[in-house]
Amino acid sequence: MEWSDAWSIILFILGYLFLALIALRLLASLYRIVAPYLLCPRRNLHARAGARWAVITGATDGIGKAYAFELAEQKFDIFLVSRTASKLVTTKTEILEKFPGVKVEMCAFDFTVPTFEDYQPLLNELASIDVGILVNNVGMAIDCPEKLYEVEGGGEALARISTCNTLPVIILSSAVLEQMVKRKAGVIINISSMAALNEMAYWNVYSAGKKFMLHLSNILRQEYSVHGITVQCVTPGGVSTKLKIVDGAEFFEPSATKFVKSALRTVGIVDNTTGYFAHQIMSEMVGLMPHCLSNRLFAIFNRKLRESIHAKRNQ
Ligand SMILES: NC(=O)c1ccc[n+]([C@@H]2O[C@H](COP(=O)([O-])OP(=O)(O)OC[C@H]3O[C@@H](n4cnc5c(N)ncnc54)[C@H](OP(=O)(O)O)[C@@H]3O)[C@@H](O)[C@H]2O)c1
Repeated sequence: MEWSDAWSIILFILGYLFLALIALRLLASLYRIVAPYLLCPRRNLHARAGARWAVITGATDGIGKAYAFELAEQKFDIFLVSRTASKLVTTKTEILEKFPGVKVEMCAFDFTVPTFEDYQPLLNELASIDVGILVNNVGMAIDCPEKLYEVEGGGEALARISTCNTLPVIILSSAVLEQMVKRKAGVIINISSMAALNEMAYWNVYSAGKKFMLHLSNILRQEYSVHGITVQCVTPGGVSTKLKIVDGAEFFEPSATKFVKSALRTVGIVDNTTGYFAHQIMSEMVGLMPHCLSNRLFAIFNRKLRESIHAKRNQ
């Protein structure tokens, strides 16, 4: 055989291998888009949780409130944690009116507090109930995408946002895992964001804090799945709540209730997920791009978003 023939064969094989790799990647994306939402049967959440109480942080609005309602509908007792006492009372009343068979407890707590001592009263309350599910949902975003030192509220806002987006997941998970391990069951759901999947310029502390949540979830899963604990990290795209600042098409921006119904269905099926069919399509499409390209596109989009917010404010 001549050298040129040998090279042709090698190139031919390499070409096929490359195409096979692309096909595999596309198939894996398709599986992640379709299987958790349409194909895989729903898992038994009560069996995974092993106890009746579900604790939800940031539970008086948006996604957290929707988790509280969905879990109450699935006959879990609900422990609400949020900042504003009056909103907690309203949410508790609403849940009890709709689901009179469940118990609802609540605790007003501001998660921007930076010390472990501040958490003690909340931790004492959690120690007095059997926590089957913890939804680490509370989170704060910056009001407008900006470069780090130009973020509204300056260093103080950056510190509050970072504290709220990272400390609760550590302290609360650590507290409930102890009792979950003894019971050999429990579910932790961490609400991160699609902003965690790229290094999002102009969303600096938000994107980094959400990445922290995703990273920690992956580590906790390695440490605790052997003890029967399920750790899921949800990375949503836009959900129609108070927090979001970009208006998207309805298909890509569901209501909190629609989103949570979909995300809860995936617990025990996928470890890390956007939680929603349309968000998964977006995430898979972005994931197929080279990272440097998606980062660049997000930076351009966020700069334009920032300019349009500034223009609106100046009108
Ligand atoms: N909405 C989206 O498009 C989107 C997309 C990706 C990820 N996420 C993530 O999903 C989670 C929930 O977002 P959301 O859109 O549902 O937010 P939201 O509608 O603004 O609701 C936030 C909830 O958290 C509570 N909260 C806020 N700051 C708090 C603090 N410092 N201490 C205690 N409670 C506090 C609020 O209570 P008060 O009303 O009393 O302040 C409220 O109950 C966040 O982690 C967010 O990053 C949201």
